[in-house]
Amino acid sequence: MATGELTQDGRARVLADGTEIPLLALGVWQVPEGPVCENAVRWALEAGYRHIDTAQAYGNEASVGRALRDSGVAREDVYITTKFYPGSRDPEAEAQRSLERLGVESVDLYIVHWPQGGPTWAWDGMQRAHENGYARSIGVSNFNAAEVDALLKVAEVAPVVNQVQFSPFEFRRDLLAACEARGVALEAYSPLGTGRHLRDERVAEIAERLDRTPAQVLIRWALQRGLIVLPKSTHRERIEQNAQVFDFELTSADVAALDGLDGTGGTDQALEQPWW
Ligand SMILES: NC(=O)c1ccc[n+]([C@@H]2O[C@H](COP(=O)([O-])OP(=O)(O)OC[C@H]3O[C@@H](n4cnc5c(N)ncnc54)[C@H](OP(=O)(O)O)[C@@H]3O)[C@@H](O)[C@H]2O)c1
Repeated sequence: MATGELTQDGRARVLADGTEIPLLALGVWQVPEGPVCENAVRWALEAGYRHIDTAQAYGNEASVGRALRDSGVAREDVYITTKFYPGSRDPEAEAQRSLERLGVESVDLYIVHWPQGGPTWAWDGMQRAHENGYARSIGVSNFNAAEVDALLKVAEVAPVVNQVQFSPFEFRRDLLAACEARGVALEAYSPLGTGRHLRDERVAEIAERLDRTPAQVLIRWALQRGLIVLPKSTHRERIEQNAQVFDFELTSADVAALDGLDGTGGTDQALEQPWW
């Protein structure tokens, strides 16, 4: 199958390196290591999620790994992403530490969490992690269009994803277009605005009309925009609800209305105020 195409069940897409990535993931930022994280991941796997998005900086890789092992779902059926914390120096060594914490032989995707110190310095180590089989795919996060281009100029193994803040309220249209044109799939983080966007009355109006929830409308918008989407919750009923997004469709008028909520001017920047 060609890059960007969806698999037959419509729940995964093909990345530029030929691997498949499930479109819906459970994000576990700000989910504490221990029972809270283990429960969230277990409930997600029970609800049919097959993609978990963690990071070295989240401090909960061990819980993700424990929940995965306890779930009885086969390792090869679950897509695991972790992220290199760019305050460390050596992406290859840090990948090995992640694998130990997760208790797996490799992750499916390993990404540079943000371009601290510039977009290219970490890439040699990322490529070594890939070469040595610690990560099946490698990518980036919080990279703007110019940073993606700078990296593509020097990369031997190209990044296959860019994970950025993305929702109708942060509809970074130019960044999405630039990434897609370069074969880099976009992953939407904070698709619910870390909870803020759920209170917007225009989202609520669409949700009410469709007999869905605001969270489902925002997640569905991301799917219809061709994105991989990473909602986070620690509540079982919300985790389940957020996965029920493959059985309805937004009309093009509703998609356009949601597009109109963008406050970034369709930017190619990854963030208005970088934290690094
Ligand atoms: N690469 C990066 O730099 C980066 C940065 C930010 C995020 N991310 C990734 O993206 C993931 C998601 O982003 P996020 O954590 O900012 O938050 P989010 O998914 O945009 O929103 C999560 C918030 O919404 C609430 N929520 C979730 N589903 C709900 C529902 N159905 N009804 C009502 N409330 C609901 C959650 O509450 P409860 O948990 O209490 O249910 C939580 O407060 C992260 O976990 C992480 O994996 C990556």
